[in-house]
Amino acid sequence: MTEFKPRVFSGVQPTGNLHLGNYLGAIVNFVALQKTHECVYCVVDMHAITVWQDPAELTGNIREVTAAFLAAGVDPKAHIVFNQSQVSVHAELAWVFNCVARMGWLSRMTQFKEKAGKDRENASVGLFAYPNLMAADILAYLATHVPVGDDQKQHLELARDIAIKFNNDFSESIVANGFGDAFFPVTEPLITGPATRVMSLRDGTKKMSKSDPSDYSRIALADDADGIAQKIRKAKTDPEPLPSEPGGLKGRPEADNLVGIYAALSGRPKESVLAEFGGSQFSVFKPALAELAVEKLSPIANEMRRLIADPAYIDSVLVDGADRARVIADRTMAGVKDVVGFIRRK
Ligand code: TYM
Repeated sequence: MTEFKPRVFSGVQPTGNLHLGNYLGAIVNFVALQKTHECVYCVVDMHAITVWQDPAELTGNIREVTAAFLAAGVDPKAHIVFNQSQVSVHAELAWVFNCVARMGWLSRMTQFKEKAGKDRENASVGLFAYPNLMAADILAYLATHVPVGDDQKQHLELARDIAIKFNNDFSESIVANGFGDAFFPVTEPLITGPATRVMSLRDGTKKMSKSDPSDYSRIALADDADGIAQKIRKAKTDPEPLPSEPGGLKGRPEADNLVGIYAALSGRPKESVLAEFGGSQFSVFKPALAELAVEKLSPIANEMRRLIADPAYIDSVLVDGADRARVIADRTMAGVKDVVGFIRRK
């Protein structure tokens, strides 16, 4: 097997209402991985338009996600931060993958079924083909590791299937063109930490999401201290005190969720949080959680506000990141063209 250099890629959609789930499930890990890996972080604006977006809001949301990356601690000089539409290889490689992936594979994607709902005939073709674009995002950079929340697991399995099928379908050409025995790496998902699936504050059986109509279902990264504290105070709970061990959270989705959030924000395992709060009522735990959340999230919200007030700076970060991303992606695409048998300027 060809040895691939460890490289991280991940993306976040600029569809508004960036929330605690995005932060704990993904962005916190983006920050941590910078120490050990070369990282490429992308604001996936082409994914966003698989569902219609108001153009002015889309522009604002691209800047908001970029601001969140930077405010959380992503370093755009040491690593790469850019928006997807500035690097045309994403679309080009996605087309090749449209011809590698099978209809049956995409038909099984639960996120498409959920988002398209009953009116499938009316969903955009882009919404159906979305996982192929996601595979292109990752594989344009030959990324070996992808940090995401639990909800992206199926899409990452598809990206692996696409890489494997491409490597098999073109195996002779890959060898003939001097790429060894595999052109694409089989990417490892990194779904880690105590908050890989943060749930709604109103219903512990539903995922916290950008599209939930209730603002009280999520803590937005842009929320101020009062907003954060109020949402935690109003979060749904049950009447029992907290258990002393994680096993006692079974069948108590709201309690489990709040303990998971506390654990992730404090960087401690759930066991340690319950060793401290086991036996406490929510009237004790919720204020402690609110204090911790404000302490950790308010500085990020403040820094996001400061950055968003300077759109020219944010745009310059994205242009610079895209210039560096393009160098890597163009090299991959040239290789793909040779492997597939296309003619190109050399
Ligand atoms: P998106 O924009 O929906 O979410 C961004 C990241 O946040 C994670 N996430 C959560 N984690 C824990 N709890 C939650 N409630 C929660 N909600 C969201 C997501 O898992 C994700 O990691 N298709 C992707 C974007 C994408 C991508 C990629 C990711 C496009 N190309 C390539 C990785 C690699 C998406 O819609 O994420």
